[in-house]
Amino acid sequence: MSAGNTDNIVDEIKSRCNIVDVVGRTVNLKKTGNNHKGLCPFHNEKTPSFVVSEEKQIFTCFGCGATGDVIEFVKKLNNLDFREATERMAEEYGIEIKDQSLGDDGKKAIIYGINREVAMFYFKSFFDHPNKGQAYMTKRGIDAATLRKFGIGYADEEWDSLYKFFIGLGTKEEALLELGLISKSKDRYYDKFRNRVVFPIINTRGKVIGFGGRAIGEDNPKYLNSPETPVFQKKNNLYGLNLARQEIGKMNYAIIVEGYMDVISLYQHGIKNAVASLGTALTINQAAMIKRYTDNVILAYDGDEAGLAAALRGMDILNEAGCKVKIIQVKDGKDPDDFVKKFGKDAFLKLVQDATPLIDYKIALIRQKCNMETTEGKIDFIKEVTPILKKLKSPVEADAYIKKIAKETKISEGALHLEVMGSTGKAIAQTVKNQLDPIKSKDSNAFLEKTLIKLMIIKSEYIPKIRPYGRVFNIPGCHRIYNVITSLYKEDSEIDIKKLEDSIDQEDNLLLQDILQNIIADKEDIVLEQCITKIKMAELKRRYTEISDILSMTDEDIEKNKIQELTQELIEIQAKIRNK
Ligand code: CTP
Ligand code: MN
Repeated sequence: MSAGNTDNIVDEIKSRCNIVDVVGRTVNLKKTGNNHKGLCPFHNEKTPSFVVSEEKQIFTCFGCGATGDVIEFVKKLNNLDFREATERMAEEYGIEIKDQSLGDDGKKAIIYGINREVAMFYFKSFFDHPNKGQAYMTKRGIDAATLRKFGIGYADEEWDSLYKFFIGLGTKEEALLELGLISKSKDRYYDKFRNRVVFPIINTRGKVIGFGGRAIGEDNPKYLNSPETPVFQKKNNLYGLNLARQEIGKMNYAIIVEGYMDVISLYQHGIKNAVASLGTALTINQAAMIKRYTDNVILAYDGDEAGLAAALRGMDILNEAGCKVKIIQVKDGKDPDDFVKKFGKDAFLKLVQDATPLIDYKIALIRQKCNMETTEGKIDFIKEVTPILKKLKSPVEADAYIKKIAKETKISEGALHLEVMGSTGKAIAQTVKNQLDPIKSKDSNAFLEKTLIKLMIIKSEYIPKIRPYGRVFNIPGCHRIYNVITSLYKEDSEIDIKKLEDSIDQEDNLLLQDILQNIIADKEDIVLEQCITKIKMAELKRRYTEISDILSMTDEDIEKNKIQELTQELIEIQAKIRNK
């Protein structure tokens, strides 16, 4: 593999992976400003001096001086040579390295070269002199600066302008044919893009990989796109990502639209974090590309049926890629381009702000299909909604939707829980148990008991408040002191410490002195509240463990009612814990 050959593969790898993710697998990285910081994996250190720049896609260690790109990192970390590291990464990111013989890569370089020239050719004919392309884009309200930014071009009405120009330059016919720029009919070559505005499609490495052409007249198809070529696969690219990616990172969300014009129009109105899926349903690779810059995605598809169907598929793919997905339905105007032109930036941003989360959107679609006036309709609705709720990872989230749906359908929450959680009650129990485990701490109990005693001594009015939790006094000394305190308690008078000391034995007196001297309970009201919360949490946890134990032993077919009841309790406990 020659250097020139691997260049393309390296480009490809870099465009598909994020160094922060790759390094993050081995180094515990923390975000600091624009960078991520962690302990250097290449030398021993106790304070982090290893920095990864997401923006620059490089790492640097200020301790040992190691530095480089993602390939260098993989190479150093695994003691590989450059070739091995490249191969490993290529394999991981699904880049075919085997077929990329020198010939193929040489060919790619040639294609990039031709594409660049072609983009220049169309660009020049757009700007050199007034023409239909200019008139068309002006009519659509796009200004010169934006047109230049996107490298917009014009393919004129002649049959063979491009063909003649490139043959004149010595470009091979086969190459132009393969790139879908010309075609052949009855031994004559003619240009594919005629009487069209041309949108060059540029990848994140700045290479022109293909073209889209919008008919200026009524020609069909309305949009003509480059065919798949060695450098252009629709499924691996997003239109506009080259320009939008920085803003996507900055805003921490991406807007996905359907069309070229939506991206351009939004951009001109100052919304620069939009990309287009090039008319296809979103693919896994496209989702992964977005995820490199943000986890938050807003889908702004056309309000028509086709747009909706595409949006739905896209949402699932994004969701599975780990993105938080919301959807905008552009109603007042048929697509984002029309909308932003008519109502402006702020109105569009308002749509973004009010975007509907994936689940709500899906539920709304199902609701539309069902006749919610009838019992049958409601049951159909529930049957279709439950699989969606079952997929939710958070039981609290599921619970919130169940509450909403119960209200709407007037079907009991319990029944809905059973429908949604029935077989997953055990799984929920486990999740919550994991969430609760950190609450447990070995000596926090002694501290809690001592603090409560101190509080009762400071203010006797706390005694009746603590009494309901008397069972928490498990340390024998604390238990005895607590008993004496409650027996000495009289309304409206503080505990007489002398009397207390006299009523307990020497060992307990040592404990009492420890409490009086070492337990600090300033801001008593807050401390009391904290103690009670702690107690309640501990009790919730105990009950949780109990329920999960019971659930693990239940027979789903026989103990349906019991499972339902316990699952319901589980959900309630978890909600309480979350809301504490
Ligand atoms: N598209 C395509 N081929 C077509 C039609 C559409 O590739 N024959 C893609 C294009 O990327 C287009 C997108 O799908 O931008 C959305 O198409 P559509 O909604 O039909 O058009 P608009 O983007 O609204 O186009 P315009 O505003 O120019 O009419
Ligand atoms: Mn449109």
